[in-house]
Amino acid sequence: MPTGKRADCRYDRLVSDLVFPRFPPGFAWGVATAAYQIEGAVSEDGRGLSIWDTFCRQPGAIRDGQTGDVAADHYHRWAEDVGLMADLGIGSSRFSLAWPRIQPGGSGAANKAGLDFYDRLTDALLARGISPMPTLYHWDLPQPLEDAGGWMARDTAYRFADYASLAADRLADRIPLWITLNEPFVVTAFGYALGIHAPGKALMLDALATAHHQLLGHGLATAALRAAGVSKVATANNYSPAWPASNSAADLAATAAYDVLHNRLFTDPVLLGSYPDLSAFRVRDGGLDCVQDGDLAIISAPVDALGVNYYNPARLSALPNSPLPFQLQPIPGYPVTNFGWPVIPAGLTEVLTTLKDRYVDRLPPVYITENGCSVADEPDANGLIDDQPRITYLDGHIRAVFDAIVAGVDVRGYLVWTLMDNFEWSEGYHQRFGLAHVDFGSQRRTPKASFSWYRDMIAAQRAGG
Ligand code: FCB
Repeated sequence: MPTGKRADCRYDRLVSDLVFPRFPPGFAWGVATAAYQIEGAVSEDGRGLSIWDTFCRQPGAIRDGQTGDVAADHYHRWAEDVGLMADLGIGSSRFSLAWPRIQPGGSGAANKAGLDFYDRLTDALLARGISPMPTLYHWDLPQPLEDAGGWMARDTAYRFADYASLAADRLADRIPLWITLNEPFVVTAFGYALGIHAPGKALMLDALATAHHQLLGHGLATAALRAAGVSKVATANNYSPAWPASNSAADLAATAAYDVLHNRLFTDPVLLGSYPDLSAFRVRDGGLDCVQDGDLAIISAPVDALGVNYYNPARLSALPNSPLPFQLQPIPGYPVTNFGWPVIPAGLTEVLTTLKDRYVDRLPPVYITENGCSVADEPDANGLIDDQPRITYLDGHIRAVFDAIVAGVDVRGYLVWTLMDNFEWSEGYHQRFGLAHVDFGSQRRTPKASFSWYRDMIAAQRAGG
């Protein structure tokens, strides 16, 4: 790849120089963010404590003891950030609503100041021609709900629906498409089974109850959103093609077990109204003895779209005599991101075509609700941030989406993770995923080369009709 720097556009591979696929008219280009990762202002305007505020204070939980207390200070700099989005020319902005801002204790009346913030943000986005796409739950559960059992408790699903009503009562008149949950697999696996995310529980397979309660919360919230006038509802899952490390029967079985947990557990109930076979896991009643009559009907109420988050495939081998009968193996032979994640764009095509093959006409239109990479990028002597690996990553993955469209998958949009560098959960500020660099000392935002690339790619798509 050429390396010469161009002061005018700051990237090397011009979209117009390439035979770049032309996406269907109306295809939504956007960016995605999440409240706890960017907002900061954790004790302002009546916001309550979330499980991430608590988790960040546990010694050793977050790299270098960092917290989201200030993050990218988006709570104060939102207008500048909407300006950045307008500069990109995007049509969709996915952000999350902080439950503890809207309902500080997780139940009861709404906190007006919290709703006011998202009201202002919504209007500012609309004024710039950007469609807001809120996610109700991007992992920041109000701490009082965790104290009452968190997602292990069935009641949390009902509290979630109440919160959804409060948010939609205020915003549904201006926001068409809402997302209920972000990556419930990560909440169950990292938050409750392994304890590497908030709330830091290591319940292993007992954490399966959190899968059902999140799904029930999704179903109840879907009904609440519709009752409040929301026209389109989706949920967002992360998907990874599951690849066996060998063709041995044991590795193939391990791969199938992983596929069930990662790719099916949170999708089959929504799209098919049934749980996948969990018999590979040695748990009583398939680990789902908390399922009550009627729950699956609530969970499988039709959705209008499916959010797909994609980062990389997974390669599995067997792990005998373990509650989780698989282990993740490295995938050699590919470039890796700063996080060490292999860069495999074809995995995104595989995710999308597999969803289509698996769910056929039950699969609603799909949005790529997150895709992006971490690069160790810092300004050079001239203040430029030349993040060529991110451009290569985005270029490859956007083409991979196009390949899926050609193969017959109804993909309606692509949203880059993420607008600007942020608090990357247990990695703190050590992984930079942004199109814009953030200096966390001064809070100065600087568009990277990838920002210009994405902006010009979107403009070229528009110009091409
Ligand atoms: C996803 C999360 C998002 C971000 C990216 C890198 O799993 O939804 O918040 O951390 O990973």
